[in-house]
Amino acid sequence: MFAPRVLRPAAPSIRQATSLYRSAAAVKAPLIRSNGGYQPGVAAQRFVSAYGYTQAKVLVYPKFGEPKDVLQLHKHSIAPPSGTQVNLRLLATPLNPADINQIQGVYPAKPTFNTILGTSDPAAVGGNEGAFQVISTGPDVQSLTKGDWVVMKRTGQGTWRTHAQLDESQLIKVDKEGLTPLQAGTVSVNPVTAYRMIKDFCDWDWMRSGEEWLIQNGANSGVGRAAIQLAREWGIKTLNVIRQRENPEETEALKKDLLELGATAVITEAELLSKEFRTIVKDLTNNGKQPIRLALNCVGGENASAMAKVLAPDSHLVTYGAMSRKPVALPSGLLIFKNLVFDGFWVSKWGDKNPQLKENTIRDVFDLTRSGKFKDIPVQEVKWTYDKDHKELVDAVQDTLSGFRAGKTILVYEGDD
Ligand SMILES: NC(=O)c1ccc[n+]([C@@H]2O[C@H](COP(=O)([O-])OP(=O)(O)OC[C@H]3O[C@@H](n4cnc5c(N)ncnc54)[C@H](OP(=O)(O)O)[C@@H]3O)[C@@H](O)[C@H]2O)c1
Repeated sequence: MFAPRVLRPAAPSIRQATSLYRSAAAVKAPLIRSNGGYQPGVAAQRFVSAYGYTQAKVLVYPKFGEPKDVLQLHKHSIAPPSGTQVNLRLLATPLNPADINQIQGVYPAKPTFNTILGTSDPAAVGGNEGAFQVISTGPDVQSLTKGDWVVMKRTGQGTWRTHAQLDESQLIKVDKEGLTPLQAGTVSVNPVTAYRMIKDFCDWDWMRSGEEWLIQNGANSGVGRAAIQLAREWGIKTLNVIRQRENPEETEALKKDLLELGATAVITEAELLSKEFRTIVKDLTNNGKQPIRLALNCVGGENASAMAKVLAPDSHLVTYGAMSRKPVALPSGLLIFKNLVFDGFWVSKWGDKNPQLKENTIRDVFDLTRSGKFKDIPVQEVKWTYDKDHKELVDAVQDTLSGFRAGKTILVYEGDD
């Protein structure tokens, strides 16, 4: 998962530790050894010892369960990098639905539980994507230097940590010019998923640009917002389904928000499931002359079946999430008479099989971002300072799966190298 040279409890001796520097408070405060690391007793930021050990904090879990029950904030020391190792500090890491499912133990990708970070029990690190800045490199590192930005080559490396030590081969260098930490930290999962689903599951007729459609639910999600913008760029119209909000003004505001991103039409789930839905589709698609050729489904249940029913023959419905936790039930006629194809997509597996294509996809999204054609997702930023209370971080994680949120939570590190 990560390189084994990360220091375990074998932090500097107490004598060495007194030479820890950076903050006057850190020097004056009594040093406490805790969870395998050393920290000043009060009010200090984090610090690096004279021997180059970085003091890190990390959200770990020793067993599966609800985040509020199993997540722990663990302190540990990271040794100076050797060989091809790279020491990193966090810029930004999001809290994605799949991260919570992974902690709950209901996600197919199981993390590795180990004691590499000096936890008393074997533990796994939360988080699957994020942007980090290089703070130091081992002597054999070729492609990275101090100050560079990186993202993880694969999911499953554990990104909810203030600092990390990884091997150069596990990282993708990001050309940070014109990008923010938020943009770099949220590119690898949602935009890549939207991009690949639109490109790889439909043989679009580029001669009919602007006349073909895709339909999607969860349209206000990170993936949904990315799909709207990519489709707009590629001449594909989008019919977007959102859940209605508590009051009509909020629903209208969300519709407007997505229309401004480039959505062709936005309807509510209630409209999707209503008798009028077929008329809505006819009106939008010039009486069906403009085919709906792809459906993207992250909700499931009757929501997904309703989308399938308006697909043109030989189209694909790609399921990539199951937010309603309801199974996708399909009328047999859709398979027999329309030859619809029902696929699944999982970006983790796709990325492992197609590492170069993943890098290219990320670069494409960054190019669109730099040119102002790919807007930021709405976020709720949680600043992760060295003194951050464990409960605040855990509450933020626990809240991730609650619906009707104003934005995705993103942890932004504020501290020294
Ligand atoms: N297969 C893959 O490779 C892959 C990659 C990325 C994401 N995903 C999946 O895609 C989905 C969206 O992820 P994201 O990161 O884009 O999400 P996100 O930005 O965190 O947004 C969550 C979305 O889920 C909706 N939602 C929440 N609870 C729901 C419920 N009970 N019923 C219906 N919709 C509900 C929300 O709608 P409201 O605003 O109405 O609550 C919102 O649209 C998740 O299921 C995630 O696991 C899969």
